[in-house]
Amino acid sequence: MALEVEQVPLFLAPMAGVTDLAFRLLARECGADYTISEFTAAAALTRQDAKSWHKLESDPREKPFIPQIFGSSIDDMAQSCELLQDVADVIDLNFGCPAPKVTRHCAGAALMGKPDDLVKMVESCIEVSTVPITVKMRLGTGTGRINALEIAKQVEDVGAERICVHGRTLRQRYSGEADWGAISEIVAAVDIPVIANGDITNSHSAAKCLQVTGAAGLMIGRAAIGRPTIFHQIKEQLNWGNSSPPWGAPLSVDNQAEARLWAWRRYICLDDELNELTNSEEEIAPELLSKNRLRHAFSFTKELPGSKAFRTELHNNREAKQLANSVDNFLEDLILKNEK
Ligand SMILES: Cc1cc2nc3c(=O)[nH]c(=O)nc-3n(C[C@H](O)[C@H](O)[C@H](O)COP(=O)(O)O)c2cc1C
Repeated sequence: MALEVEQVPLFLAPMAGVTDLAFRLLARECGADYTISEFTAAAALTRQDAKSWHKLESDPREKPFIPQIFGSSIDDMAQSCELLQDVADVIDLNFGCPAPKVTRHCAGAALMGKPDDLVKMVESCIEVSTVPITVKMRLGTGTGRINALEIAKQVEDVGAERICVHGRTLRQRYSGEADWGAISEIVAAVDIPVIANGDITNSHSAAKCLQVTGAAGLMIGRAAIGRPTIFHQIKEQLNWGNSSPPWGAPLSVDNQAEARLWAWRRYICLDDELNELTNSEEEIAPELLSKNRLRHAFSFTKELPGSKAFRTELHNNREAKQLANSVDNFLEDLILKNEK
């Protein structure tokens, strides 16, 4: 029986190395209401680094377009907002990244340990930006007090439009369980929308998280890697509207190989289309094109029978077209075997 929870928007979480433009468009087709670019260093944007600007490309099909930036310098962050505001509909500021290469410069989640600087950064970005500014954060650094609630109130006061909270501390990184109870306290304390994030993996956990937090939206990260069809599945299983699936009958998304083959083909199609567009304007190195594709090739085949041996094959096969074909063949063979 479907769980009764009111419909809220579903967000694809920003994920470095995962949420490239083709994947974001695919997630939208699968039912994600919002997508956010992977995080990009403000310092690189202000020095006009081409690779960083390439990461922030969008497409008319991705509306609203929400680039995410991170940095330790208030000036770089504010300047990046100014540079982005003509292309972005909303700009998201990252205070959640736990990676040492980011936190050692006091950026990402480390800024939660310097709440005054964090709030000043948000305020400065809002001051210069003509588009709304949103914030993504964790519960705290995990070394001092849990201070997400205080920070949430302060960023609301300076004008942040929305907050997304990943229910873990910096210290936890991805271990333990996301604390949805802590998110519910933030939901109760502020008037702006709060998006709950952490450990939502299916319709059951989506409904449970909504019941616990009362959040205005849900953000899904790791469970969408290699499995973007999760957005449609959640909406369908929670009786949220009755939009028809983009893959059409008779595909069964409960059959992992079938769902993944559909999604993989669609990803390749979108990626080819986008690369063609980009390459007509500028030369992008082929390694860059296939880098994302290789990561997705691993994730679209992960945990399926025979995927371990297939991974080795993938390592020796990095050319973009070959990659597309070998994943296609692997998934198609699996479906045929299942049918026998
Ligand atoms: C591979 C990977 C890359 C990530 N990159 C980013 C990022 O660029 N920006 C960000 O705010 N969070 C990033 N995150 C964190 C996710 O957005 C999300 O907060 C986290 O995975 C918890 O949600 P989940 O339990 O649904 O995965 C990343 C997570 C993963 C697994």
